Amino acid sequence: MKNKNVFKTLNYGLYVVGAKKDKNVGCIINTATQITSEDTPLIMISINKSNFTTKTILETKKFSISVLNTEVNPELIKTFGYNTSEKINKFDNINYEEIDNLPVIKEGVTAYILCNVKEIIDASTHYCILAECYEYNILEEKETLTYKKYQEEIKNKVIEKVETPKNTNTKRYRCKTCGYIYEGELPPNFRCPVCGEPSSEFEEIE
Ligand SMILES: Cc1cc2nc3c(=O)[nH]c(=O)nc-3n(C[C@H](O)[C@H](O)[C@H](O)COP(=O)(O)O)c2cc1C
Repeated sequence: MKNKNVFKTLNYGLYVVGAKKDKNVGCIINTATQITSEDTPLIMISINKSNFTTKTILETKKFSISVLNTEVNPELIKTFGYNTSEKINKFDNINYEEIDNLPVIKEGVTAYILCNVKEIIDASTHYCILAECYEYNILEEKETLTYKKYQEEIKNKVIEKVETPKNTNTKRYRCKTCGYIYEGELPPNFRCPVCGEPSSEFEEIE
């Protein structure tokens, strides 16, 4: 039995990972985990090799984590989760502050962590990045957004904003995990560019 719903029962949060070289970049991740809790705690993130944010992290060896809360604007998740920093400046209409040359989001965010990369593990499509947390603080005492709550209450609002008008002759498929829409004949070896799910996890939609 391989029931992928199992992974939705684990308690993830939702975060914006930010980095800066020539400009501020960032993307949504649900994969940040505390590994140790010493004076300098260790954290691990899993980030797709093809994300533009990943390239910047590999070059600068540091990143920020903004911990999203339940009052976050779905538009922010759309901006950071469904676009690439290679093409747009995601921070243009966002309330943020640079701390130690790293972008920290100040709206819909409970806390932030600044991290120095310690080790990079190759995990096929992703890198697992182990990092030292060298500065961290609470911004607003609000309930942290869980991945489950995102799936149940916020994802639809984000997807509404992402969907493009239907072209009548073109088939459309939706990723059952993250809601990404693919238009056209779905290739059998296709993988979702947002969450990495295979084509078997896509459903045809009207
Ligand atoms: C709910 C949600 C969760 C996501 N989780 C991850 C993740 O854990 N790791 C990852 O690499 N990308 C994840 N993504 C996808 C990236 O945020 C997305 O591909 C982004 O557009 C990359 O932006 P960039 O090219 O500017 O780095 C997630 C997206 C969404 C909407």
